[in-house]
Amino acid sequence: HLVFGEQAEAFAPSNIALCKYWGKRDKVLNLPVNSSLSVSLAHLGSHTQIRPSSSGKDEVFLNGKSLPLEQAFAKKVVSFVDLFRRDQVLPLVVDTRNNIPTAAGLASSASGFAALTLALNRFFSLDLEDTVLSVFARMGSGSASRSIYSGFVEWQMGQQADGMDSHGIPIPVFWPDLCIGLVKVSTGQKAVDSRSGMQRTIDTAHLYGSWPAQAAGDLEKLHAALQSQDFEALGATAEHNAMSMHATMIASWPPLVYWKPESLMAMQKVWQLREAGIPVYFTMDAGPNLKLLFQQKHQALLEAEFSGLEVVTPFAVD
Ligand code: PMV
Repeated sequence: HLVFGEQAEAFAPSNIALCKYWGKRDKVLNLPVNSSLSVSLAHLGSHTQIRPSSSGKDEVFLNGKSLPLEQAFAKKVVSFVDLFRRDQVLPLVVDTRNNIPTAAGLASSASGFAALTLALNRFFSLDLEDTVLSVFARMGSGSASRSIYSGFVEWQMGQQADGMDSHGIPIPVFWPDLCIGLVKVSTGQKAVDSRSGMQRTIDTAHLYGSWPAQAAGDLEKLHAALQSQDFEALGATAEHNAMSMHATMIASWPPLVYWKPESLMAMQKVWQLREAGIPVYFTMDAGPNLKLLFQQKHQALLEAEFSGLEVVTPFAVD
């Protein structure tokens, strides 16, 4: 028997992977082929409120707009809520607001499903442990398993078939001068979502066979860089990992190229700046936008080089 209150709300941050999650070993439970590691984007993320619905049916709002229940995202939200509600007849309103600047071109599914999990945990007074919350969030969207925590987080792939050991673990490292710069190339809907992109890569890219070992090696390098606070090792590993993931995408059939000409231009600018002695690196997800990694002392210079750069400081104390 579930107890529930009037309403509950929660916030979860978005996150950027420095070692990417690419490929599922179980599509239903969202179990990954490899472990991944990310940094959370502090105050940028999703606020989700849950309250009983007076209309007799579920209602899903995104940024103040009511979504038709047959819409893909609304459907996903309702079936996720069913994991908690089970067979109870309890129509709910799920109201999500993302404060991620829409212009930044960041995916919101990670923070969205993490905030939804946290809000459901409160609404039903479940008092679940963080690792269990992370397991639930993972079932909504893989990367959401990392958004249950702030700061650096490793999503350990786990080994169990039930997925209960596949969840995020916080890495207690504080890195106050680390900056993430969002380079907006395009904010349009991506052509191929990450779920089908992963599937296509696994099914058709022979090169994907080399990915699990690349990711495992990068994960180790990232842990070492975090322990020694070695910015250049962190940045270089993250960039190499992102390029390796994109190499497997490009080697798929039909080819999966998320880059736009402007993405490549921004990459070349990053490489030129490095040649000129500025330690700046990038990472990219299943889309055309770059996320720069740099130290605070180079912020002004990089803002001048990349117009419209949106800068996030994950460890800023305000
Ligand atoms: O969580 P999903 O299913 O949206 O997949 C995320 C995949 C990448 O963003 C490309 C990598 C990652 O680890 O976030």
